Amino acid sequence: MKIIIVAGARPNFMKIAPLIRAIDRNNTNPTQDLTRIDYVLVHTGQHYDIDMSDVFFSELGIPAPDFNLGVGSASHAVQTANIMIGFEKVCLDEKPDWVVVVGDVNSTMACTLVAVKMGIKVGHVEAGLRSYDRQMPEEINRLVTDALADLLFTPSRDADENLLREGVAPGKIKFVGNIMIDTLEMMRTAIESQSMYRSIGMEPGRYGTVTMHRPCNVDNPSVLKMICEILSEIAEVVPLVFPVHPRTRQKMEQDGLVSAMGKGGNLVLLDPLNYISFMNLVVNSRFVITDSGGIQEETSYMGIPCLTVRENTERPVTITSGTNQLCELAQLKRKINEILQGRVPQGKDIELWDGRTAERIVKVLLEC
Ligand code: UD1
Repeated sequence: MKIIIVAGARPNFMKIAPLIRAIDRNNTNPTQDLTRIDYVLVHTGQHYDIDMSDVFFSELGIPAPDFNLGVGSASHAVQTANIMIGFEKVCLDEKPDWVVVVGDVNSTMACTLVAVKMGIKVGHVEAGLRSYDRQMPEEINRLVTDALADLLFTPSRDADENLLREGVAPGKIKFVGNIMIDTLEMMRTAIESQSMYRSIGMEPGRYGTVTMHRPCNVDNPSVLKMICEILSEIAEVVPLVFPVHPRTRQKMEQDGLVSAMGKGGNLVLLDPLNYISFMNLVVNSRFVITDSGGIQEETSYMGIPCLTVRENTERPVTITSGTNQLCELAQLKRKINEILQGRVPQGKDIELWDGRTAERIVKVLLEC
């Protein structure tokens, strides 16, 4: 069997690493020739900065991509179109049996569209998540990808229900668990033995970690200004560490917000971090404030209180069974106070978030 694995943007890299490891493990001891999986790795180049891309390959042990389409940043239409043009050539040359895409970024949708039109089967890892908010580019990517893919690998039961409601044939849906947790487990010792937080003067359990990059939070200057002001006020009560995504940094610089934020010294702005350092910050935090998807899951798994500054989440299991809460900007300070007083949601184990998702995906691929 020959597959192409696609990755394009930062959150994709954490999802392909365990998959590649599981395939390599399968291939070192195939029970017969039929159970070998040959893979070609395609990086679309949607993310290209060293600290948004290369660092993850080296620390997560991902081999160098066989192809890098080098598409870079552009409008959604141009970026998607460029990925499609580049990926079609790769598919023509490589003639895979399957294309495996992960997550919900533009690269996920673009490569799915190319593959299915060429008659190549597609497997989607992290299928079925829905925010029911079509203003999110990721929601459009999820809807298109899931409508077209042949195998839908879901991380949680709610995802299965979403797909069934949309009329997806039950046989296509494979509940395999959350592949991000495989990465966490794979890297747990490295994460726990690091001390990123100390190198920036923080003490365990006595600071909060912040990430913010969604268009709904950072593209509107008045919303971004309000976020920066509220974070500065929170930092007067409890120190905050904020590794800043490039798109957020760009907007903050445009709007003249960077210098005002760092002023008190209790709000530390950093460049984007590698995976181990970032997760080390997270696991030692008192709480996390974010608008990311994956961080809602990672905090739930690690039992760290998480406030998600969004109106909705495509990952409701992190609220019903995890430590996540949706939070309007106006509630943020009150919620932080609650957390500091020890009023936090208690998470419980989530089904199949056990570090063995990639193994299950490989098994399903071999059976198809
Ligand atoms: C993308 C994904 C989003 C994911 C996020 C994680 C889509 C639609 N969005 O959003 O789901 O949560 O990645 O990071 O696919 N930039 C750089 N260097 C880089 C990459 C980006 O400076 O390596 C800057 C550029 O100014 C670019 C902007 O960030 O225009 C946005 O990048 P883009 O890939 O369009 O989307 P993200 O906001 O990163």
